[in-house]
Amino acid sequence: MSHINENIQLEFIISHAKAYGFIFPSSEIYNGLSAVYDYGQYGVLLKNNIKNFWWKSMVQLRKDIIGIDSAIMMDTNIWKASGHINAFNDLMIENLNTKSKHKIDILIEEYIENKIQKEINNAKIILGNSFNEEYFIKNNTNIIALNLKKKKIFEQMFKLLKSNNIAEIKSLLIELEIINNNWGNIQKCNLMFKTKLGYTDDKQIDIYLRPETAQGIFSNFSNVQKTGRMKIPFGIAQIGKAFRNEIIARQFIFRMKEFEQMEMQFFIAPHEDKKWFSYWKNIRLKWYLSLGLDKYYFKFKNHTKLAHYANAATDIEYKFPFGFKELEGIHSRTDFDLRNHQKFSKKKLQYYDPYKKCCYIPYVIETSAGLDRIFLSIFSYSLKKELLPNGNSRIVLKLPPTIAPIKAAIFPLVNKDGLPEIAINIFNKLKLYYNIIYEEKESIGKRYRRQDAIGTPFCITVDYESLSDNNVTIRFRDSMLSKRVSIKNLKKFLENHINMKILLKKIINIYNKN
Ligand code: GAP
Repeated sequence: MSHINENIQLEFIISHAKAYGFIFPSSEIYNGLSAVYDYGQYGVLLKNNIKNFWWKSMVQLRKDIIGIDSAIMMDTNIWKASGHINAFNDLMIENLNTKSKHKIDILIEEYIENKIQKEINNAKIILGNSFNEEYFIKNNTNIIALNLKKKKIFEQMFKLLKSNNIAEIKSLLIELEIINNNWGNIQKCNLMFKTKLGYTDDKQIDIYLRPETAQGIFSNFSNVQKTGRMKIPFGIAQIGKAFRNEIIARQFIFRMKEFEQMEMQFFIAPHEDKKWFSYWKNIRLKWYLSLGLDKYYFKFKNHTKLAHYANAATDIEYKFPFGFKELEGIHSRTDFDLRNHQKFSKKKLQYYDPYKKCCYIPYVIETSAGLDRIFLSIFSYSLKKELLPNGNSRIVLKLPPTIAPIKAAIFPLVNKDGLPEIAINIFNKLKLYYNIIYEEKESIGKRYRRQDAIGTPFCITVDYESLSDNNVTIRFRDSMLSKRVSIKNLKKFLENHINMKILLKKIINIYNKN
């Protein structure tokens, strides 16, 4: 078998995720909300399996980390202390003629969509429906130049936004004729969603939906440390939703307004930050590789411009279909958060170190992973178009078996002669342990293709021989080879191939070696 297309395009990933029940645009029947998505029947299972793997790796396997689940709504002072109210901003500009307000990134994106992309599309139309269209599009100098121009504008914009160079951003917009002199000054707007707490107008107070889960950990530092009798160094982990009024609504679930984070704050003695920063960088990268993903798809990117809370930061980047982009951030947050919470709340957030025999505000190394981005990385890595030896092709989702949404599909070869009864019996036994599917409609070939597309590692077929020998055929998703296995050994077979224990043993090995 060979892969027809190593570089699967994002559009194909999006349509596959929708067609097979992984991800749907939110509120689609009302035309959808931009950058908000729903997870479907298989998407939720895959997402839960990733969460589970992270939680077990970070909490269950480590005696120095415990987990919590803090509320999304928190006291507004938390966001003052954390710096989010002052520093978590994006840029906006007003058209003074129409009084309409526009986000800078959206203006540039629309310019690219409506002007450059239109020119690219027109150039493609001129090329016509040649049988070798893809080749011509890739090699047409006009299209190459337009694509380069598009890339250059994006890069320029990101650079200016990163450096917060407001004057130059305005000049760029004027240069591209996106705005003229009838537009106002660029203003900063906060990325947090504001809502009201309380019923009557006079009693209502503003609160924010959390833009990161980390602050729920910082604000519970003392509670957890004391009740858990934790000694430094120790970590607090949590998984939960975070909300950001993102300006750039693109790249599918890579950048969403409502997303999930898996964060862990590791509390350490002051000035031990370098050691632990490098420890967690190493561990977190190996966690991804333990899933069997190729190491060439990952790289570290050290931050040159640090967030307001960090003295060092690196991103674990993954090679998405649209290039290397941040998957997880490892941040050395010093004592910034606890110190500020102590100042704003006037509650002591110090720790008495029994070994050092002194009190201090701990330093923190944070590992902050985006669950949806991990989902997208694994999903896009696993989705393959394959050419089969018989000349046909198939689409297969080669997910790591331990996190596949459905572990096995049980088929009776035909829907009669006692075969369905045996298959249902197998289904009823295995469903106690794993997510299993029972399927009796359509040809075996079509049933295989469907399971390939949702990433089911094993298809188990009950045939006429099963009636006499009590064996079934197991077909392997990746190799498409099959094997006869006794019905009574099925549970053990699955356990050896798809149990999360397989992954966790690798993680224990990583912990032991570091
Ligand atoms: N507590 C630190 C923090 O929140 P961050 O780099 O802003 O740091 C951490 O976010 C991770 O959260 C990112 O690496 C990314 O995986 C994920 N993330 C951030 N914004 C996101 C968004 N709009 N949509 C999806 N995931 C996002």
